[in-house]
Amino acid sequence: MTQDRCDRPIAMFDSGFGGLTVTRAVIDLLPEENIVYFGDTARYPYGSKGHDEVATFAAQITDLLIEKYDPKMIVVACNTAAAVALDDLEARVDIPVIGVLRPGLESLLKVTVNSRVGMIGTVGTVASGAYQRLASQAAPAVDFRCAACPGFVEFVERGETGSDQVRVLAQRLLAPLVEAKIDGLLLGCTHYPFLARTIAEVMGRDVVLVSSADETAFEVWRALEASDDRRVGATRGVHRFVSSGDVLEFARLGRDLLGPELNDVECHTW
Ligand code: DGL
Repeated sequence: MTQDRCDRPIAMFDSGFGGLTVTRAVIDLLPEENIVYFGDTARYPYGSKGHDEVATFAAQITDLLIEKYDPKMIVVACNTAAAVALDDLEARVDIPVIGVLRPGLESLLKVTVNSRVGMIGTVGTVASGAYQRLASQAAPAVDFRCAACPGFVEFVERGETGSDQVRVLAQRLLAPLVEAKIDGLLLGCTHYPFLARTIAEVMGRDVVLVSSADETAFEVWRALEASDDRRVGATRGVHRFVSSGDVLEFARLGRDLLGPELNDVECHTW
């Protein structure tokens, strides 16, 4: 593998700020990697849109990233897009495409002791049945509960991650999972780790929260190792951020959410 190929960025995308949780995890695990992140903030939320529309958006963004940034890998840092479009995206491009569903689910299944687990995600992700199919294939004996959490993403996009309103909403939406006495809960939307404190307080100390963001970063690492594509022994990577919405707002809130690596934000207009 030539250094040039290793230098090509990892491209990641989400409907907005949520995929930054995956970016954070990838930067922490693989600080030398170059990354380009696309947040489709002009068209968020994806979770309440039809599957065909989300699949079209995912294909458009993938084409744009390939054309403009020549990445060595695409990370679909959005559960909703991965749930409805991962197979199509894999068929569309000739570089590896990593989704967030399988890594998170595999970890969830490893943490359970009582064989009762849950997953929370957008309406689109839950309705797609993608997690339910994976869970029934991987662990048919495990009681797997799903709950859609409409409204969570909007709180994060407004930067309201610890308000009383989000806590009240969480108490209502998570009540069935608390009652089901699950011992592991997968945050099946990349926005949700920003609400982890509230979710943890509502679920209680006996429930292990699993973030698909962290698990996906490990999957990225393993895939790069396997294909000998890792950028090693080099300087810290360059991290670029692109938004289809208000770039000043993306820079302000994005920096709060991700950290100092998020400086400038480039604009993309559809
Ligand atoms: N962060 C996304 C996900 O993981 C999408 C949220 C949305 O736009 O509704 O599902």
